[in-house]
Amino acid sequence: MIEKSFVMMKPDAVSRRLIGKIMSRFEEKGLQLIAVKLLQVDEELASQHYGEHKDKPFFSGLVDYITSSPSLAMVIKGDDCISVIRKIVGATNPKEADLGTIRGDFAMDTGRNIIHASDSPSSAEREINLFFNSNEIFDYEISD
Ligand code: CMP
Repeated sequence: MIEKSFVMMKPDAVSRRLIGKIMSRFEEKGLQLIAVKLLQVDEELASQHYGEHKDKPFFSGLVDYITSSPSLAMVIKGDDCISVIRKIVGATNPKEADLGTIRGDFAMDTGRNIIHASDSPSSAEREINLFFNSNEIFDYEISD
């Protein structure tokens, strides 16, 4: 089934100049970027995005980290893309993430795991609406 997922390169991915390398992994796999935005996440947006973690001990550190410098938000479209993207991204703890995944190849700490990807169709819809207006999301044909 064709799905849309919300994917965000976190501040360290941007500041470490990994944007191009990470985007290539999704494009080379055959997925389509239909929205892209560099933005500074503020505390309110961070709290909304990570609302389900607000009672966790790592929450304030997570908000400090995600608001520390610009992030790159994307909407990616493709067949079963939510689970395909989770595989490309790798496990939440980068030390456990398989080599060949983005987290496995580029990160070491769970608190600095360089990328976020929606974990379900309902969170994808919620997160896409939180970060993007409908006129920022594009519908266009891709060629192979
Ligand atoms: P993400 O996929 O963006 O979703 C929730 C985030 O919370 C997760 O990536 C991590 O960055 C962070 N997180 C989850 N568990 C921990 C933890 N035990 N310690 C620090 N950060 C965590």
